[in-house]
Amino acid sequence: MNHAAVIGCQWGDEGKGKVVDFLSDNFEAVVRYGGGDNAGHTVVVNDRKYVFHLLPSAMLHSDKLCLIGNGVVINLKILWKELETLEKAGVARAKLFLSEKCHLILPRHIKEDKKKGGKIGTTCRGIGPTYTDAVARRGVRLLDLENKKSFRPQKYLEYYRWLKKNPLVRIGNCSVLLDELQIQKKRILFEGAQGTLLDISHGTYPFVTSSHPTVGGIYIGTGFRPRKLEVMGVVKAYTTRVGKGPFPTEIKGKLGTYLREKGGEYGATTGRPRRCGWLDLPILRYAKLINGLDSLTITKLDILTGLDQIKVCTGYRLDSKVQRIFPANLAVLRRIKPIYQSFPGWQEDISQVKNFEQLPKEAKKYLKAIEKETQLKIKLIGVGPERRQMIRWQS
Ligand code: IMP
Repeated sequence: MNHAAVIGCQWGDEGKGKVVDFLSDNFEAVVRYGGGDNAGHTVVVNDRKYVFHLLPSAMLHSDKLCLIGNGVVINLKILWKELETLEKAGVARAKLFLSEKCHLILPRHIKEDKKKGGKIGTTCRGIGPTYTDAVARRGVRLLDLENKKSFRPQKYLEYYRWLKKNPLVRIGNCSVLLDELQIQKKRILFEGAQGTLLDISHGTYPFVTSSHPTVGGIYIGTGFRPRKLEVMGVVKAYTTRVGKGPFPTEIKGKLGTYLREKGGEYGATTGRPRRCGWLDLPILRYAKLINGLDSLTITKLDILTGLDQIKVCTGYRLDSKVQRIFPANLAVLRRIKPIYQSFPGWQEDISQVKNFEQLPKEAKKYLKAIEKETQLKIKLIGVGPERRQMIRWQS
């Protein structure tokens, strides 16, 4: 297949940035299709860490074209800052194409989010209020700045003019460009932000973001014509969530704190501590059916090293019945009891392991159990933050 998508299967923070950066060698274009700078995609190359909030995670590849589709909401100040940071770092960087139809996050949106986002535990980046304005047909799009001589905030016009003058940036119709790329037989990778359970339609509503991180968001958020994509689901070897809302396999107490500290589980955007828990298979089965997943990538397997026992939730008990799929009703979610299967842990350092066969037998057993339960092949396994700390397993 020529085109692929990297989709978060949990509540975001699955390590999609690293996976996109790793895969980008196989693609000519990388496209963000939803969310905004609430995302924090981390790429580590030669001990240097880059966090992309708005820019696609292939920005460090100078031979790539990075696109921001119309489904993304843009804070021009953040965009300017991210581009400036790359320029100052002196690293080679990709060309950037912005959809003229992107809605703009304005200071009033951020102000409103800071005032009202607490109930959900939003990132306070103005995401919800911007999408609200878009749906209410009173938003401001990038193309609206074209004819403006003055605009409150005036600074945004300056950022816009700066972008237009930047030789590595183009603003235009994203769907037309994607069409041209397909005619030229270029390979396109779509980069999901957030995760399946944060989707406004399919997630743990109302504890969700205001966009569509699931695969359907690609078509709406870019104008890419419906095609079969290879859909790669990204899953952390355990589960995390930042912000409020249900989390059936959450681990409270010492073990939860251990995972948070060992995994560096603090929001890449807000610095907030993430809630941690065991891997939840009903969530993965749900992500598979919503997104039509073709494979899985497991990240941060190295964080589980050193545990005596690792648990996996295989289903939920609801009264006397067993449920295998994540339910939508929050009242039901409060009543379910996770059913756990325990696996022996491993003590060996796996961070330098290069292939599946070299992994400790307990780790292999853990991964094979995930494959069996989800009926999905695991293609990549992350064993550390660096680009090279990735094992290719099944092709
Ligand atoms: P918002 O997207 O800022 O409106 O936040 C809504 C919910 O989505 C909150 O629970 C956030 O913590 C969560 N969220 C938004 N973006 C991300 C992300 O990139 N990773 C993890 N959680 C996120």
